[in-house]
Amino acid sequence: MTLFPEMFSAADNSILGRAMEKNIISIDAVNIRDYTLDKHKKVDDYTYGGGAGMLMQAQPIYDCHKAVCNSIGSEKKVRTIYVTPQGKLFDQNMAKELSNEEDLIFLCGHYEGVDERVLEEIATDYISIGDYVLTGGELPAMVMIDCISRLVPGVLSNEESAQTESFDDGLLEYPQYTRPEVWMDKKVPDVLLSGHHANIEKWRHEQSLERTKQRRPDLYEIYAHKI
Ligand code: ADE
Repeated sequence: MTLFPEMFSAADNSILGRAMEKNIISIDAVNIRDYTLDKHKKVDDYTYGGGAGMLMQAQPIYDCHKAVCNSIGSEKKVRTIYVTPQGKLFDQNMAKELSNEEDLIFLCGHYEGVDERVLEEIATDYISIGDYVLTGGELPAMVMIDCISRLVPGVLSNEESAQTESFDDGLLEYPQYTRPEVWMDKKVPDVLLSGHHANIEKWRHEQSLERTKQRRPDLYEIYAHKI
C-alpha cells in the first residue's frame, strides 16, 4: 500500500522478476490514493497540535487495507507491516520468519507519517530497516520484499542458493575467488586449490571468524557467547 506504486517496478527485474513470471511470488503495489473519498483526491492533512509537515489520513489507508484484505481472501488476519524508522530492526531472522507467511501487506508512509488511529486498527508489525530516516516507506519495503522473497523456496536457483551465506550462523561470509589464479600479482590462497575439503572448510571458518571480528565486532561478541 503506497502513494508511489511505480517505485515497486524495481522488482520486475532480475531474480524477483523471474520468480514473479514463474508465479512463485507475486507483488502488487496498490495505490492508497485510489481509495480516498475526498473529491480532490487528497490523502493528507495538517497535524493536530501543530508542527511541520503533513500526515496521511486514516480513511484512505483503512479503505485501501480493507480492499487488499478482501482481494487476498484469506481466512486468517494478514500480517500488516507498517514500515517506519520507529519499528523493530529488520534482520535475517525476521526475514526468515516472514518468508513463512502466505501473504504480507506493507504500508508505506510518506510526509511526516500516518494518523495513529489507523495504525492501531490495521498494523500488526512495525519494522525499520535501520537507524536513519528515508523520505518514505517504499525503499525500505522493497528492501524487505527482496530479502524475504529470496528465502521463499524456488525463488533462487541451485547456483544462487541461500545455503551458506553471511548471517546464517551469525558470522560474515569468508572471502571468495574465481579465475584467474593470479591477478595483479595476487594469488588465490593455496588451500583453495588443494582439493582437500576438510582443510578448505577449516580455512573458510577461520576466515569468517576473523572477518566478523574485524568488521562486525558486535556480531562476533554474540557468536563468541553462544559457543
Ligand atoms: N521510513 C523512513 N525511514 C525508514 C527506515 N529507516 N526504515 C523503515 N521505514 C522508514
